[in-house]
Amino acid sequence: MKFSWNNRTQCGECGEDYVSKTVCVAGWVDTTRDHGQLLFIHLRDRSGTLQVVCDENQNQGLYKASKKLRSEFVIKVSGTIQMRTPATINRAMNSGTIELIATDLEVLSDAKTPPFMVSEKASEKMDLSVDEDLRLTYRYLDMRRPEMQRNIIGRSTIISALRQALDSAGFLDIETPFLTKSTPEGARDYLVPSRTHPNKCFALPQSPQLFKQLLMMSGFERYYQVARCFRDEDLRPNRQPEFTQLDLEASFVNESDIMRVTEAAIQSAFQSMGITLDAPFESLRYDDAMNLYGSDAPDLRYNMAFGDVTDIFKACGYNIFKSLANKGGRIKGFAIPGLASSISKNVLQNDLASKSIQACGGKGLTWIKCLDGNQFESNVAQFFSQDELIQAAHAVHASPGDIMVFVADQSLDVVNTVLGRFRVMIAERFNLIPEGIFRACWITDFPLFEINNGQLTSLHHPFTQASSPLSESMDTTALLALKARAYDVVINGQEVGGGSIRIHHPKEQALVFKALNLTEDEINQKFGFFVEALSYGAPPHGGLAIGIDRLASIILNTPSIRDVIAFPKNRVAYCPLTNAPSVVEQSQLDDLNLAYQSTPESVTTPE
Ligand code: AMO
Repeated sequence: MKFSWNNRTQCGECGEDYVSKTVCVAGWVDTTRDHGQLLFIHLRDRSGTLQVVCDENQNQGLYKASKKLRSEFVIKVSGTIQMRTPATINRAMNSGTIELIATDLEVLSDAKTPPFMVSEKASEKMDLSVDEDLRLTYRYLDMRRPEMQRNIIGRSTIISALRQALDSAGFLDIETPFLTKSTPEGARDYLVPSRTHPNKCFALPQSPQLFKQLLMMSGFERYYQVARCFRDEDLRPNRQPEFTQLDLEASFVNESDIMRVTEAAIQSAFQSMGITLDAPFESLRYDDAMNLYGSDAPDLRYNMAFGDVTDIFKACGYNIFKSLANKGGRIKGFAIPGLASSISKNVLQNDLASKSIQACGGKGLTWIKCLDGNQFESNVAQFFSQDELIQAAHAVHASPGDIMVFVADQSLDVVNTVLGRFRVMIAERFNLIPEGIFRACWITDFPLFEINNGQLTSLHHPFTQASSPLSESMDTTALLALKARAYDVVINGQEVGGGSIRIHHPKEQALVFKALNLTEDEINQKFGFFVEALSYGAPPHGGLAIGIDRLASIILNTPSIRDVIAFPKNRVAYCPLTNAPSVVEQSQLDDLNLAYQSTPESVTTPE
């Protein structure tokens, strides 16, 4: 996009077609090189970098002024574009065949020496050398770096593509409140104490879930919003306390309607960055995902699917396996492709089968190398017959040159989860993940409920419809066996979005609340308005929310979602730039009728 405000030309816009033209450019001094009589400036703006030449022989005053320039000064330069001499052509720069011969130079702002190098040249080494908290403290400088410019501009392009996809499918962009009541999404709420209603709090929304369902009851049929969500939860690498969703909901729909519109939106987000993503995405049932990959967000860029070898090893000579297999336990494994000759016995035994498997929550790991001609090698190979090993290799799809790894436990869930983590760890550590490819899939048929700290809770949220009818007489086992009409979208092993078909009958909603052990009072207090709304004619409806930060981070291939958020919190949910959260004035607390239980030192108490 061209800007011509103040007759300014963008640095990255200047190309060979500008030769002999007079332009005015403005931006930041990236670097300067003084060659005596000739001073070169790399001038940077949002569009790119342009070489500016200050020639003493042409303009002595200008050359002298240019010698005072330092990195990050903001300048405005006028002059004429000319071709560079062949020896000075820089193919790495967009505008590397041309340069601007300066005739006028004005310093718009000078700058202190930045705490880290902003220049394009320093960028490649940046991630290794500069502490992330320092980057976040000076985020405005960090974002001047071309890498961050690419990420933040890319995010904007992606959001615009998502919006366009939904606009063209007839979805309405409707805002919902920030100051609201708690929405259950499984995290703690950020609370906002009210001044006008003493002793009462708003909650910042964990998602617009209830409001978007109310919008369906209002008859809007198709809603979306680029919505900020707030969740006070333990931070993980791809989580932020406030993050952005592409939230959508539609009426008179089923699962496949929501899936198709989501795929179209995600495809257009990828396409906006020049990447073609195939659709429809493949679909995996939750049970199959757990059994094959030990995760409800499997990374399908690589295979290493699990095989069950419990029956094969029931009569083997390896006691741990034999006794577990005969006591109802399970033994499963997968094949690490092609690494039999490159991973030593020492690494397998003392590293992977001890430290690594323990880090994945397992007690132990058995490894067996598959060699040519149905030969096997392992520290425990003598306990197995050749036939057992051949059958096991078949079960885990191992070929000669692969390493089979097995985990055994009394609980199938433990075996799956441990192997699932180990599969990811191995793929990352031994570079088994192909680069530059994207594999998206749907996970369906989730359980409706799960047990969390001994309590029955909703796996998604309590507004999700069950695949089969609920009844009051169901005990915990029956409730746990119920499946949900819920679906997650997973790309490259990351949950990017999730949603469901919702309950639209008040009676069914009441059954779910009852199963969750909520009392009438609790239901009324938390969701009374919502249950009431359901009783005035709610259409069948469903929807989904895409985590925009995660989607943008995947598309733009950044190490963390923080790299696609302009002003993120750090790893401990703190903002090093503004020093938030911070202690507030006593008078503000008084207004809110609040008091610290212990007074922090920096609070100023009135005389
Ligand atoms: P859910 O809780 O699965 O569903 O959230 C949807 C998507 O939002 C992203 N996400 C996050 N991203 C960054 N930081 C976080 N802390 C974080 N938490 C979630 C994920 C996730 O897949 N109301 C439902 C949606 C629905 O049912 O329509 C909801 O919020 O990518």
